[in-house]
Amino acid sequence: MHQKLFSWLALAVALSQLFMPATGESYQVSRHNVSEVVDSNELVLLLFYSNRCKYSVQLMPIYESAASQLHSTLGGTGKLALGKVDCDLEPEMESNYDIGKYPTIKIVRNKYVNKKEYRGQRSVEAIVSFALEELLDPIQEFVSLNELNDLNTRKYLVIGHYESNSHDEYMAYRRAASNMKEHCQFHVKFTGGNGPNSLTFQEHLNHTDSLSLYTGNMSSQEELMEWLTMKCIPIVRELTFSNAEELTEEAKLFVILFHNPQDKQSGKDFERVVRAELMDELDNVIFLTADGILFKTPLFHMNKTEADLPVIAIDSFAHMFPFPEFDDLYKPGKLKEFIGQLYTGDLHWRYHFVELMNSVEDNEDDTEVSSLKPPSSKFRELRPSKHRYTFARDEL
Ligand SMILES: *[C@@H]1O[C@H](CO)[C@@H](O)[C@H](O)[C@H]1NC(C)=O
Ligand SMILES: *[C@@H]1O[C@H](CO)[C@@H](O)[C@H](O)[C@H]1NC(C)=O
Ligand SMILES: *[C@@H]1O[C@H](CO)[C@@H](O)[C@H](O)[C@H]1NC(C)=O
Ligand SMILES: *[C@@H]1O[C@H](CO)[C@@H](O)[C@H](O)[C@H]1NC(C)=O
Repeated sequence: MHQKLFSWLALAVALSQLFMPATGESYQVSRHNVSEVVDSNELVLLLFYSNRCKYSVQLMPIYESAASQLHSTLGGTGKLALGKVDCDLEPEMESNYDIGKYPTIKIVRNKYVNKKEYRGQRSVEAIVSFALEELLDPIQEFVSLNELNDLNTRKYLVIGHYESNSHDEYMAYRRAASNMKEHCQFHVKFTGGNGPNSLTFQEHLNHTDSLSLYTGNMSSQEELMEWLTMKCIPIVRELTFSNAEELTEEAKLFVILFHNPQDKQSGKDFERVVRAELMDELDNVIFLTADGILFKTPLFHMNKTEADLPVIAIDSFAHMFPFPEFDDLYKPGKLKEFIGQLYTGDLHWRYHFVELMNSVEDNEDDTEVSSLKPPSSKFRELRPSKHRYTFARDEL
């Protein structure tokens, strides 16, 4: 018995040394062995780089130093590993992980590759604190629901009741929650087996008409993720300076409602119309609301000002098209028709061009035709491109 235990320990130690970089730095991984690292750690950062890219080369010593620091803080506990992938040798991984630029740091948690990538500063301190923060428990425990009353959160709530923190179903909840924590706020009450395990979603604590009970497989991380994705990620999202770049990476059209921050109604109406008429566009379109004062530059490019708000516009990454009359939002099918015009390839361009030409002729205006091209997209610069390093927020 004792003997057996000893040999298991020896094996474990040998294995952990095998997968531990001698210097405490990051792991070089290939398509053949990435799963060894990913499967044996809760959180893995994967740096995709190319030695031909100077930003990759600049980042490397920083990344290595962050890896050593994290390794000495956490040890080889299976919590965290930093890996790196040489894209010149691993084109297959580059495309599997959807890498659009170098360097990119992907976040893999419980084997699930997060859509979101590391976008913090490229410094040792920032990478280290990001990783440590990512390892914090995504779920807050409560004893009584009253405790949740004091929460001042804009996120939706997910509330679990589980027997204990070592229950398999709770583990699945925890893994799923850690991948969704920027979208929802997660809570748990441990019941000690007093009642069944359950999971509910609610938009706000007192908003009980939005309450829904999870009825899927409680042990399946995938099923939980699917449900949480559907519940936690709103159909109409808010465009901010910090999420703009990430949103462009989904490579979909933007349909944006620019509104005055004081005007809450147009956003609600917009969402209602999207839910009622435009749900089948979600594969191609991201619906957004944006503070029209903050994002005045794109408005200005469409010859619009604060006084014109609310304004709806489509950004196709080539051009921006204002929806001609905001009030047409209330006419069933109008916004859908407008979006549909963009799918007809370059026809859309001619359509608007002709329309503009006609209106010019009517007005006998002598404005130069060249100035009548649809305004160019202000989000275009943000699209993923190889070798792009920083995103100048001021461009917007
Ligand atoms: C993975 O494979 C690569 C290429 O063969 C090798 O350089 C690297 O050391 C391996 N990494 C691990 C963690 O085994
Ligand atoms: C929810 O309602 C309770 C009383 O019904 C109230 O005390 C509490 O402040 C409300 N919480 C929120 C977040 O509105
Ligand atoms: C629930 O999910 C777990 C983990 O994926 C799986 O092993 C189990 O077979 C599933 N149960 C049912 C009833 O589908
Ligand atoms: C810009 O908007 C103003 C006010 O709505 C309008 O008078 C003007 O003709 C517009 N200019 C162009 C080039 O569309």
